[in-house]
Amino acid sequence: MTESAAHGPRWPSKPEYAEAVQDPATAFADPGLARGVLDLNRLGMPRTSSGRNAVVFRLLGDRGPCAVRCMTREPVAGARRYDSLSRYVETRPCAALTPATWLERGILVGGAWWPVVLMPWVPGDTLDLALARHLDEPRALRHLAANWRVVLRQLAQAGLGHGDLQHGNVLVDDELRLQLVDLDGVWVPDGQEWPRADAGHPDYRHPREAADLQGVRLDAFPASVIFLSALAVAADPGLWELHTQENLIFRETDFAQPGRTPLWERLGASPDPRVATMSRRLSADCARAPGQSGDPEQLVTEAGPSPT
Ligand SMILES: Nc1ncnc2c1ncn2[C@@H]1O[C@H](COP(=O)(O)OP(=O)(O)O)[C@@H](O)[C@H]1O
Ligand SMILES: [Mg+2]
Repeated sequence: MTESAAHGPRWPSKPEYAEAVQDPATAFADPGLARGVLDLNRLGMPRTSSGRNAVVFRLLGDRGPCAVRCMTREPVAGARRYDSLSRYVETRPCAALTPATWLERGILVGGAWWPVVLMPWVPGDTLDLALARHLDEPRALRHLAANWRVVLRQLAQAGLGHGDLQHGNVLVDDELRLQLVDLDGVWVPDGQEWPRADAGHPDYRHPREAADLQGVRLDAFPASVIFLSALAVAADPGLWELHTQENLIFRETDFAQPGRTPLWERLGASPDPRVATMSRRLSADCARAPGQSGDPEQLVTEAGPSPT
């Protein structure tokens, strides 16, 4: 439960981790991981997934496939946050959040031990790929949006905030079930005094997101961005041309100019009138204080009951 203060300013790079991980027996201190078999791609190199802060390897361990998350920079209050979350979910479980364990003595790189986050491997695609895959299946996209509301309710019922809702942190399986990963920004009630993790993704966060915004309110705006994006694309698949790899359909500039970019205009004219109503709410939220943003439940309430 110690903070990884012993580590220098430069954390290992993704290639350094990829090299170290090739021999699990020497790379990992945890005996289960040391006995594991690393998943390789067709070129015989470790299969990786990555984002801005970490590279993730798939390892077949004693208890099934797991994700070994190796960080390329130090997460804010990492050890404390993951330890506190693990304890918290013992009494208030949250199915939407993938269980994650911080291993302080995780992986040996260049003669030094670095922490890793160990999780079960979640099968599926990131949310952007899942939406792209179902572009011509509006029913599937609406089903996905409904499952997204379930995820948000599970977080709210557990009293937890994810803190970095964006496509890369949402995995979607073949049944369109959703699972959240990347818990570096999770808000746990007893972590109120901790420094805030990095602000969320610019194409998802409120334009005036405040550093002091805490708790479940943190998720309301990006959760609504995701919810509305899925429903909007279900009604008008052509909107997907606004997808850039970094976003779904909204960009930072849309939030900075609520109601005044081509996207807002298209949403206002959506074939699904509920999308038009919800987009007016989201655009109004951009001009309000970030803590007053509506979550998907509020958007749904304002749009009235769904015909289907
Ligand atoms: N438990 C997991 N199971 C399967 N894939 C995962 C898991 N955790 C992360 N990933 C994949 O690895 C990618 C990067 O991991 P993430 O924790 O989001 O790191 P970053 O902080 O760099 O964004 C994710 O977008 C996802 O595709
Ligand atoms: Mg991520």
